[in-house]
Amino acid sequence: MRALYLYLSIALVLTLCVSVSTARNQEERLLNHLFKERAYNKEQRPVQSQDEVVDVYLALTLSNLISLKEVDETLTTNVWIEHGWYDHRLSWNASEFDDISILRLPPRLVWLPEIVLENNNDAQFQVAYYCNVLVDPSGYVYWLPPAIFRSSCAINVNFFPFDWQNCTLKFSSLTYNAKEIRMHLKVETDPDTAENFPVEWIIIDPAGFTENGEWEIIHKPARKNIHKDVPLDSSKHQDITFYLIIKRKPLYLMFIMVLVTVVVLNCVIVLNLHFRTPSTHVMTDWTKEFFLERLPRLLHMSRPADSEPQWEGALQRRSSSVGYIAKAEEYFTVKSRSELIPNAKSELDMTDQLLAEMKPAVDGANYIVKNMKDKNDYNEEKDNWNRIARTVDRLCLVLVTPVMILGTIVIFFMGVYNHPPPLPFEGDPYDYLESNRRVL
Ligand SMILES: *[C@@H]1O[C@H](CO)[C@@H](O)[C@H](O)[C@H]1NC(C)=O
Ligand SMILES: *[C@@H]1O[C@H](CO)[C@@H](O)[C@H](O)[C@H]1NC(C)=O
Repeated sequence: MRALYLYLSIALVLTLCVSVSTARNQEERLLNHLFKERAYNKEQRPVQSQDEVVDVYLALTLSNLISLKEVDETLTTNVWIEHGWYDHRLSWNASEFDDISILRLPPRLVWLPEIVLENNNDAQFQVAYYCNVLVDPSGYVYWLPPAIFRSSCAINVNFFPFDWQNCTLKFSSLTYNAKEIRMHLKVETDPDTAENFPVEWIIIDPAGFTENGEWEIIHKPARKNIHKDVPLDSSKHQDITFYLIIKRKPLYLMFIMVLVTVVVLNCVIVLNLHFRTPSTHVMTDWTKEFFLERLPRLLHMSRPADSEPQWEGALQRRSSSVGYIAKAEEYFTVKSRSELIPNAKSELDMTDQLLAEMKPAVDGANYIVKNMKDKNDYNEEKDNWNRIARTVDRLCLVLVTPVMILGTIVIFFMGVYNHPPPLPFEGDPYDYLESNRRVL
């Protein structure tokens, strides 16, 4: 029993090995058949006769709209660019090769149509990664390389931040002209109705698409452009162009603008209050009550009056008089005390001496008066300048405010009504939507 089991296992393993190796052998044999026996030459176009044109089908899948940089006018996108064409030299009879239905080949082994992004901004014409091409027994070649393209896009910032932009990704072949290859939009077949339709839009797979935080895609048409005035053998005669008409989501920018405005207003108001003096403004009882009592209490602010020590009998000095008293005190400390106290020796000298003794006191009083007058003049001048500044400030406010308000309203409304048109192309009634496809 055990022997039989062992025998069966060995037989099973052997069958598996043989089938795997035959499969590999068949693929090897097919490669040998295509590239050696039939002498595939990748430099040659896949045509029977020289005047034949190769049809190349293109589609673009957008997986991420990375950014649109206004400064260098560059749109950065992460895309898959789908190529399809027939290369009859790569066809095989599947029943002759163990029903191999798909062959994966490195792109360097086969002929490629060399389609590049014409309006790139960084000399990066080609795809990012040369992934394998897939070939089926009919000779149909399917190639889906990924790419990160930096395309140039003319930016119009007239209505910033309510702007929309019209960016393009223009593909053409710089190696082959319109007599050698013919570019088409990819053609798909509806599985239900078996109708063929061109894919006249940029494909977005919701599962694999990362939406941009700043830009909303409004239209995404795809078009084949033929420039009849350009000769057939120029690479400029035909191109496949994918258009991205995108609108800025202004919410974030609006928030920033409002924030900046509020901060500036706050600074202006606080400065205005800070530089008020008794000679420029009268503080009403209501202001005193609300801003000095209620609001600080509500905001749990400590009042300096509470913490300042007060001692009994201290003179309630007005702060403005402190300076003068200090000056007077300074004067009397400079003059020695002995000079001020009369020492009466003789009655005769009394009057003279008294006068002599009085003189410094009078001088001192004059000195104080003169000082006070200077100080008052100075303060008055200062107050005048203050008032002039306030007048100029008010004048500017009166002049600038209407201009600012009017300008803001005009810009805002112009921006709000600056929507992209409902259709992607002017004068073309078709909307290039997947839900509204045009049967061939
Ligand atoms: C493919 O190969 C099978 C078996 O060799 C043959 O019968 C059939 O005619 C071939 N088909 C074509 C299209 O050559
Ligand atoms: C976008 O630009 C293309 C030309 O590059 C133009 O044909 C098309 O009308 C423009 N679309 C809009 C909505 O302006």
